[in-house]
Amino acid sequence: MQIDILTIFPEFFDGIFDFGIIRRARESGIVDLRTHDIRAFAKDKHRKVDDRPFGGGDGMVLKPGPIFRAIENLLGTSDPSEYPGGTRVTLMTPQGKPLEQADVAEASKANRIVIICGRYEGVDERVLSLVTDEISIGDYVLSGGEPAALVLADAVIRLLPGALGNEGSAENDSFSDGVLDFPHYTQPREFRGMKVPDVLLSGHHEDIKKWREEKALEKTKRVRKDLMTGDSDE
Ligand code: 6GU
Repeated sequence: MQIDILTIFPEFFDGIFDFGIIRRARESGIVDLRTHDIRAFAKDKHRKVDDRPFGGGDGMVLKPGPIFRAIENLLGTSDPSEYPGGTRVTLMTPQGKPLEQADVAEASKANRIVIICGRYEGVDERVLSLVTDEISIGDYVLSGGEPAALVLADAVIRLLPGALGNEGSAENDSFSDGVLDFPHYTQPREFRGMKVPDVLLSGHHEDIKKWREEKALEKTKRVRKDLMTGDSDE
């Protein structure tokens, strides 16, 4: 998969994709991840990428021209019906659809994702004509789409075939089956008076499986009632 991130702050991403699973996925060619400076596509000599909002108001709005030219440079067109097959252009914006694991799984099937980082104050509405998806990472305010782009890219990359290696299967993740993950323990068996539950040391795989399901459900009911579908018996 190819992931291109369009941003006015390319330095934000320096080094941030050079760790762990993401680094390994990049090194093994599972993902080709690049950042692009929107400012490089500004036309005037001051490389202006934003301007004051028509109609008045606070803050600056990202101008459409540099973003259109950046997309044309990457995809050869600014007409979504002409984008190469399997291409998504995703705008990170607090006005987008709140990201869920199902959206991540869907996105991980794309050949190429171009992620546009918006600014909190706004992006010229005409940019939406370039976009196939508008994504938010939750109901809180970030100053820009960069942290959100990082979140989306990370969540997508770890689902790409081969990315997880021995660190396990994405099928066991929280949310992939609609509940939170179960509790985990490692050495030592007793730490500062806190013991590892006996069942995990018992070697009874059936009992361990049952215990993990119970704990996962218990935790989900306690902290994430919204995830409970209602087809349980309570
Ligand atoms: Cl994608 N952008 C900004 N600026 N704020 C957000 C967000 C995105 N998602 C949640 N808050």
